[in-house]
Amino acid sequence: MAVQISPSILSADFARLADEVAAVPNADWLHVDVMDNHFVPNLTLGLPVVEALIKAATLPIDCHLMITDPDRWAPAYAEAGAGSVTIHAEASSAPVRTLREIRSLGSRAGLALNPATAVEPYDDLIGEIDMLLLMTVEPGFGGQKFLDMVLPKIRRARGLIERHGGEVWLQVDGGVSADTIERCAEAGADVFVAGSAVYGADDREAAVASLRSLAEGAV
Ligand code: DX5
Ligand code: ZN
Repeated sequence: MAVQISPSILSADFARLADEVAAVPNADWLHVDVMDNHFVPNLTLGLPVVEALIKAATLPIDCHLMITDPDRWAPAYAEAGAGSVTIHAEASSAPVRTLREIRSLGSRAGLALNPATAVEPYDDLIGEIDMLLLMTVEPGFGGQKFLDMVLPKIRRARGLIERHGGEVWLQVDGGVSADTIERCAEAGADVFVAGSAVYGADDREAAVASLRSLAEGAV
């Protein structure tokens, strides 16, 4: 289980995106939050900006789709060249088909669960995914407080993944910071999204390095 850090550009300066991307050369991924103002009460960016980021970034793009009807829209993000495309279980009516399509287009396939969504009903989907994303805040906004109530689910999810052979990455997203990342790592997460903890820091590169060392020290 290798620790990976995926800074979320949601908290970056959108007028200077290319510079903000270049500010985290020591990260593993660049987390891009696509919100449609339907699945979540916020609107961010869509495919044209993701395509531009794929061209501008040296890091692979970790696309988190907080949109209704991901079955219709997700494949285009894979086709555009996102390294990873994550859909929400709550929004998908044909997750097996969509996850397989994402994979067949060459991206890693991710499945996201909101804080109140139990992981157990998705046990049978673990063979269909490369990453499980557990939201540790209600999706929609950066800078929210980490929800401790998700920690037992992170542990249970890690158990399910191990029973399937341990290949699937376990990502946490929301309120991940120097104060909370160790708890997440201890519970079994290995991919850490951090928005305000990275882009709210003066030195983004140092913030990534310190989150990584805290997570590595906890496991
Ligand atoms: C929230 C997004 C997150 C967000 C996290 O719905 O999915 O990726 O950027 O921001 P922080 O790390 O500030 O909670
Ligand atoms: Zn996200």
